[in-house]
Amino acid sequence: MTEIIRPIPMEKLVSLCKRRGFIFQSSEVYGGLGSTWDYGPLGVELKRNLKELWWHDNIHSREDIVGLDAAILMHPKVWDASGHLEGFSDPMVECRSCNHRFRTDQLRSQDATCPDCGGSFTESRMFNLMFKTFMGPVEDTASTVYLRPETAQGMFVNFVNVLQSTRKKLPFGIGQIGKAFRNEITPGNFVFRTREFEQMEIEFFVMPGTDDAWHKKWVQDRLNWYIHYGIRSENIQLREHNAEELAHYAKATVDIEYRFPWGWGELEGIANRTDFDLQRHSSYSGEQLSYFDETTGQHIIPYIIEPSGGVDRAALTFLYDAYREEEVVSANGKKERRVVLQLHPLLAPVKIAVLPLSRHPDLVPLAREVFLRLQDLGRWQLEYDDSQSIGRRYRRFDEIGTPYCVTIDFQSLEDSQVTIRDRNDMLQTRIPIAGLEAEFNQRFHH
Ligand code: GAP
Repeated sequence: MTEIIRPIPMEKLVSLCKRRGFIFQSSEVYGGLGSTWDYGPLGVELKRNLKELWWHDNIHSREDIVGLDAAILMHPKVWDASGHLEGFSDPMVECRSCNHRFRTDQLRSQDATCPDCGGSFTESRMFNLMFKTFMGPVEDTASTVYLRPETAQGMFVNFVNVLQSTRKKLPFGIGQIGKAFRNEITPGNFVFRTREFEQMEIEFFVMPGTDDAWHKKWVQDRLNWYIHYGIRSENIQLREHNAEELAHYAKATVDIEYRFPWGWGELEGIANRTDFDLQRHSSYSGEQLSYFDETTGQHIIPYIIEPSGGVDRAALTFLYDAYREEEVVSANGKKERRVVLQLHPLLAPVKIAVLPLSRHPDLVPLAREVFLRLQDLGRWQLEYDDSQSIGRRYRRFDEIGTPYCVTIDFQSLEDSQVTIRDRNDMLQTRIPIAGLEAEFNQRFHH
């Protein structure tokens, strides 16, 4: 088989996502809501798998990182201390004719007038990206609260709570997955940039002086994580921020970038935030957010290394990188095109499809028995399907990235064996039904 189209236009993935139930436009029956998306039956499984792998690899399988689930609404002073009220803004211009808004820093030099209608622009002004709302029945400035634009601050302000309740010693980290909101001026490119999204962030607290080495290590570890779960290494790169683009809190930041069809784009950023956050929250709250170093007998403010990624952006990247269109030769010798999502087996939304060769009344009971036996183990997402021809079902499961199909045929009734078809090479192996559990335990080994 040969891969036939590269690069894949993003529209192909968008269409597959809708057709198969990965991602739908939000509120579509009302015409949709700008750049918000809903995850369908397969999308939600993919996202859950992604978050579980992140949590497993960064929290459950290490002794030096613990989890947190902080509230989305936080005390407004948090955003004063963090610098978001003052500086979390993008420069924006508006077209005087069609009222479309653009980020000034994203306009090309030839865009002196509106690229949509040719109208003239207003003066550029700064636009704060935080969503505002009100807490309680009175809508005034005293009751203004913000939807968090990042999960990070919840981990900074809980630093002492976590330290005291877990008795962790430096270096240690706090990890969190949760929703964040940004009133982006120009969202777009499917789920790449949206106004509501999920982040998976780690705040890793280290001794000052060891921060550069930890930063380097986290950059490499996070890059390897994406490659381990299937991103092709030629499509992923590191890019260091130059002095002008560094955030106000960072001493150094390295982005992990992916080669999207519109160019290289940030997938995750790993920042050395120094002691900025704990210092600021200490001085704004009056609480000392420090660490007592028993060896020197001194209170110190740790430095923070922050690997910060987006769940939606990672889901998009894994889907896009996995998308293949291949030319294959079918059983009757004809050349066919097949679409296959070569997702890592642990990310795949359906892990095993159980398929009787046909709906023949002799085959269905055995196929149901095999399906229920595997489902009872509770280890893998399964689907049973006896609709359409077996060839069409294989194509459907290829298209949604199911790594293995178990097929029950007439011979299975005689010898209690079934075939396992591998999504990637389409090879079929015959094995006893009694051996399926051990076989899949091995194939899905973490
Ligand atoms: N705490 C640091 C922080 O939030 P960031 O670079 O602004 O840093 C981290 O965001 C990650 O969150 C990005 O690398 C991206 O994956 C994701 N992200 C940020 N804004 C996003 C948006 N509007 N839509 C989708 N994902 C976004």
